[in-house]
Amino acid sequence: MKSLPPNIVLTEASAADLPAIAETARVAFLSDTHTQLKDLVNGGSWFTSSDAQQWLQSLLDNPQIDIIVARNQEIPPDRSPTEVYPAPIAGFSIWGKRNYDDTTNSAPAAPPGPRPPAPMHPSLPVHRPLTVRDLEFITNQSMADWQGYFCPPSVRCRFVVSCSVRPEYQGRGIGGALLRWGIDKCDDEGVYCWVQSSMGALRAYEAVGFTEVGRLELNLDDFSEGHSRHDGKGWGIYVWPYMRREPTILRSGDGDA
Ligand SMILES: CC(C)(COP(=O)(O)OP(=O)(O)OC[C@H]1O[C@@H](n2cnc3c(N)ncnc32)[C@H](O)[C@@H]1OP(=O)(O)O)[C@@H](O)C(=O)NCCC(=O)NCCS
Repeated sequence: MKSLPPNIVLTEASAADLPAIAETARVAFLSDTHTQLKDLVNGGSWFTSSDAQQWLQSLLDNPQIDIIVARNQEIPPDRSPTEVYPAPIAGFSIWGKRNYDDTTNSAPAAPPGPRPPAPMHPSLPVHRPLTVRDLEFITNQSMADWQGYFCPPSVRCRFVVSCSVRPEYQGRGIGGALLRWGIDKCDDEGVYCWVQSSMGALRAYEAVGFTEVGRLELNLDDFSEGHSRHDGKGWGIYVWPYMRREPTILRSGDGDA
């Protein structure tokens, strides 16, 4: 795994960071076909809406959620080294916790016995034409089914709510470090973590030890409401991989030469 560039530091987010976090998600998802279709039909990016700001604020206020930002502390040439200004945000990750509210620390980290069967792939509604609202309904339903599967009652786990790195900062180890923040906690606590990945992020999650356990796969052309892509090509198949990572338990002697 790449090491974090020396000018980038990870810190917990504050309320002042929320607009930059939303903007980071907006630009990071510009090349994502699912997002492009929704933005086209809805007439703009959800990330710039007041709903998005309210959602982020509710996450910041939630003690079961951690929001971590990667800040670029490099001093730009047009700034004086003594000037105080907020370091720009290069990326962020949002991590959720389940069943950590028990202060006795007695919730098991992994369910005993075999895992239940994975959720079925949802079927398409029978009415035609299908719309982006149908797409949102199916993706939300799928997420709810998998959340139930991944988070049995009384079992502790962590999950990635969201993770984005601004395109100009991608490929430099920042996304990996933002994921490592939560993964290290999982390893310390002996709990697994899971994520509903975007299609483009699959490799980034695999690089830190997640493996795919199921997927939602839909043809976006079925929901396009007659809208073409800007390049005239079809929207094509979109895949949402559901991924899980087991904790790495370090035994004494591990890591010795
Ligand atoms: C996914 C994302 C956060 C990764 O951030 P990043 O800073 O580019 O990631 P890193 O540079 O740390 O790379 C992490 C690993 O993923 C791999 N990787 C990242 N993007 C990749 C791609 N498109 N194709 C192949 N591998 C990729 C890297 O090679 C690296 O592996 P390595 O550590 O073995 O070298 C970033 O690409 C992004 O914001 N994507 C758009 C938003 C998105 O889809 N977010 C996920 C929501 S679930």
